[in-house]
Amino acid sequence: MLGRPIGFSALLLSLISAACSFVHPWGDVRNVATRGQILEGSAVPEDVRRILESKCADCHSNQTHWPVYSRVPPVSWLVEHDVHAGRAAMNLSHWARISTESRIALLSRIAAEARTGEMPPKPYTMLHPANRLTDSDKQQIATWARTERKRIRTEGSAQKEIETK
Ligand code: HEC
Repeated sequence: MLGRPIGFSALLLSLISAACSFVHPWGDVRNVATRGQILEGSAVPEDVRRILESKCADCHSNQTHWPVYSRVPPVSWLVEHDVHAGRAAMNLSHWARISTESRIALLSRIAAEARTGEMPPKPYTMLHPANRLTDSDKQQIATWARTERKRIRTEGSAQKEIETK
């Protein structure tokens, strides 16, 4: 007696789930060019790049890793929303295209978010405990952000001097 309705519900559920996997409310965030490295055009030490690559790039670059669970709705929609919003706030794959002023502002934000532990967001580090920033990570990010801000500023003013000559 029970077999039929349960079998039917299961079939219906899997049909709905299959149909939903074609729904992407935040656009086609998976289908982006993934060539190149993050932070191209910046003077970033390899170890700092590696920290940002492993702990920030899932949401802040085109180099997102998509684990299996991230492909199944409704979880896929939550993950895609984070990636969409994260890239919109800052996409490290487009670093070279970001204006000097914005890069300087972002570097301050990066250091601040890292120091306060706001980033990576809690739900993400609960799923990926290894991607929490260690104290040493935070320090390395802050030091690099400061040095890089200075470098960009000097580069910017040197460029202006050339232009006005
Ligand atoms: C799970 C996805 C996710 C991860 C991982 C993540 N972020 Fe974010 N980040 C976001 C989202 C979403 C936003 C935009 C909304 C907000 O500010 O909360 C954001 C915003 C930001 C901003 C912009 C803040 C502003 O004031 O404009 C910075 C800077 C930032 N993140 C730095 C980082 C750094 C550094 C890491 C790695 C240590 C990181 N994020 C990891 C999702 C993420």
